[in-house]
Amino acid sequence: MLEVILEYFLKTFKSRKVVLIPAMSNSTPTARVKTDGFRIKMVNDPAEICRTAAVEIRRLANRTPSATKPITIALSGGSTPRGLHALLATEPTFRDRLPWQHLHFFWGDERHVPPDHPQSNYRMADETLFSPASIPAENIHRVPAEEPDAALAAEKYEQELQAFFGLETGQLPRFDCILLGMGPDGHTASLFPGTAALRETTRLVAANWVEKLNTYRITLTVPVLNHADLVVFLVSGAEKAEALKAVLQGEYRPDRFPAQLIRPDNGKLLWIVDRAAAGSLTHSGKFF
Ligand code: 6PG
Repeated sequence: MLEVILEYFLKTFKSRKVVLIPAMSNSTPTARVKTDGFRIKMVNDPAEICRTAAVEIRRLANRTPSATKPITIALSGGSTPRGLHALLATEPTFRDRLPWQHLHFFWGDERHVPPDHPQSNYRMADETLFSPASIPAENIHRVPAEEPDAALAAEKYEQELQAFFGLETGQLPRFDCILLGMGPDGHTASLFPGTAALRETTRLVAANWVEKLNTYRITLTVPVLNHADLVVFLVSGAEKAEALKAVLQGEYRPDRFPAQLIRPDNGKLLWIVDRAAAGSLTHSGKFF
């Protein structure tokens, strides 16, 4: 199996500088490929996705420990990151080796609901990460999604980013790490196919009307996502295989597959996917 994957990557990346990284001793066989600024790590299952992401965050957090420069992480919503949060908050190899006092948490997107609502991404992170790890409130920068007016909630969050990052008008915040998921429709954060926020180029945060969900979502915009130092996608499950193939190997159609818009302009992009999600990637396909 591993040979097949490696041979396929060799063929696919003939034209790009490829660095093959041998698998870690205690992990299950995986394939890892590094090209110019974009890496894919294929692992066995959701638990491995979370562990691989936790290792990346521990590495990042210990790379720049300083009293002056906080480490800024934008969390993803959805179900996939739950296991990651639990590892960071409870497993000693992560919990005891993170400079928690320097970690500041934000969100890539939020549902337009109050923080105690079952759909709230803040609530999910509070239950799986902040409370178990006793994160101080001043390190948590949530979207004020209880604001009835979604546009005002987005505006307030934009002001929070401008204040925290000390931005001038027109400047973009540079997150140390942005975690993203991807839906079976190719959406990421709350950038859904065919929605207005896909074309937002000046705002940092947008209130995005999502017709198929019949609701607004509050989301960081593409310029902010692409200004990060590191963007990490966590993608699990066979139901996402076709979208992942389209995003990574298909024609460039970002209005249909918004995850294609994520290409850090001066940062790193890492896809951590499991075998089920990678199931449709093809030999002959090229990568974007
Ligand atoms: C959200 C997310 C969204 C999510 C994907 C994948 O608020 O729902 O930010 O973009 O990451 O829908 O969700 P799952 O991890 O649940 O598959």
